[in-house]
Amino acid sequence: AAIVEHTFHVGNLTVERLGQRQVITAVNGQFPGPKVEAREGDTIVVRVVNESPYNMSIHWHGVLQRLSAWADGPGMVTQCPILPGGASYVYRFNVTGQEGTLWWHAHVSFLRATVYGALLIRPRRGVPYPFPFPHAEHTLLLGEWWNKSLVDVERQAFLTGGQPANSVALTINGVMDPDHEVLRVSRGSTYLLRLINAALNYQLFFKVAAHKFTVVAVDACYTDPYHTDVIVIAPGQTVDALMHAGAGAAAAYYVAAQVYQSVANATYTATARAILRYTSTSSDDTITPAAPSMPAVNDSATAQRFYGSLTGLLRDGGKPTVPQRVDTRMLVTYGLAIAPCLPAQTLCNRTRGSLAASMNNVSFQLPQSISLLQASRTAAQVVYARDFPDRPPLIFDFTNASSVNTNMSLMLTSRETRVKLLRYKETVELVLQNTAVLGTENHPLHLHGFNFYVLAQGAGNFLHHHRHHKIKYNLFNPQQRNTIAVPAGGWAVIRFTADNPGVWLMHCHLEAHLPFGLAMAFEVQDGPTPDAMLPPPPNDYPPC
Ligand code: C2O
Repeated sequence: AAIVEHTFHVGNLTVERLGQRQVITAVNGQFPGPKVEAREGDTIVVRVVNESPYNMSIHWHGVLQRLSAWADGPGMVTQCPILPGGASYVYRFNVTGQEGTLWWHAHVSFLRATVYGALLIRPRRGVPYPFPFPHAEHTLLLGEWWNKSLVDVERQAFLTGGQPANSVALTINGVMDPDHEVLRVSRGSTYLLRLINAALNYQLFFKVAAHKFTVVAVDACYTDPYHTDVIVIAPGQTVDALMHAGAGAAAAYYVAAQVYQSVANATYTATARAILRYTSTSSDDTITPAAPSMPAVNDSATAQRFYGSLTGLLRDGGKPTVPQRVDTRMLVTYGLAIAPCLPAQTLCNRTRGSLAASMNNVSFQLPQSISLLQASRTAAQVVYARDFPDRPPLIFDFTNASSVNTNMSLMLTSRETRVKLLRYKETVELVLQNTAVLGTENHPLHLHGFNFYVLAQGAGNFLHHHRHHKIKYNLFNPQQRNTIAVPAGGWAVIRFTADNPGVWLMHCHLEAHLPFGLAMAFEVQDGPTPDAMLPPPPNDYPPC
């Protein structure tokens, strides 16, 4: 195993997009940022130097961070921010037992809009993929673009207690439709597409005109081969798919990523396109490429078919790896909510209150003076409570709007820092239940520090469903993920083993919902032996 070293200088970069010059925050003057490439078992060491005007931290999305929770990155959860003016912090972690496509992004305020890049983990030298070796690969980072500073977008939303402004375009590898990223392929070859949804707020449909895919991994977890002509990908998720370059005679085809919104009255319909170009074709290059026909913006049936059809690839002689015994069961309701305006929200409507979100009616607040992880490892636990509830305060028909109206208490939430304490190796099953409070929506929930098994998912109210039907759990070959797009107005059952000591955030990866409080955290205790204990923080751990 090797050591993969990088230095990330985070700073200002002037770019021109949509005819407008703009200063963004970026890494090493590149947008998207540098690609980190490693092999399974390697150690990755990234020195992040903050030359930007903002607080910074970098999260290695999907990296399990075994015994390295100090390097996970979410601001005020595992670390205090790296301060502007040249402060630095070295993230050091290994990628043992993981293969596939992951990514890294800023994990403070909305800066991940431009501070992100791919993190690819290939098999060890001499170890094959569990699928035919591709001729070459293309990494596609799908993102969103604003024509103003993201710090301003966030501040505006905070001051008014409302929604932040929508992006103005989608991007593929940092460019939008008129700029056209070009992917070159040669006829007859098979390519590995590594798709990453780095968008802040939108799930996406992805297609290539006249081409089909075989999905082989999601979130760096191998899947059984799944054949489809459309890929659905939520913010935070990744998809590895094989694509055979075997289309008709044309020299070029459009690649398209388009917004998917689960709400019925979706109004944001942006699409980004790139060009797939066949090399060594004699046909005319100037012909307009064929465009794929995209699903409707709110085509939840297509989204759920994709999300719900994936199964995990069993290796090691086909034995299931999902924990069969459960120590702790939780029912976690989540959705948007209303909270009283904070004093600093000077433009917030005091009678209407501020837009918020909650899990089990707790709107998650980050601590201000010390990171949760540091607090959990010192005597400073006063900044949080270990009483995150296992159930919502009220049981009712969560997805029925009129029933929500008669149970208004779930709409008004308090802002608190409460975590769920787990013993080392405790197995946890979570029913994630979307509610109709302020409308149902498909929220991608991301768990730091673990991959989890997706045992079942469905529409409506889990408890009702459970009472009246036999819910079939896949305890044999469920898909594994780090981010699940729970169906709008529906539920998902996930399971994981808490075998990694630290404090691990679970939150909605729609960026707007994180400051609203759609988050909670697990605090996992050390195990009994030194190889199950989190070592002390590194010497350069940023102070608050
Ligand atoms: Cu990709 Cu907590 O984030």
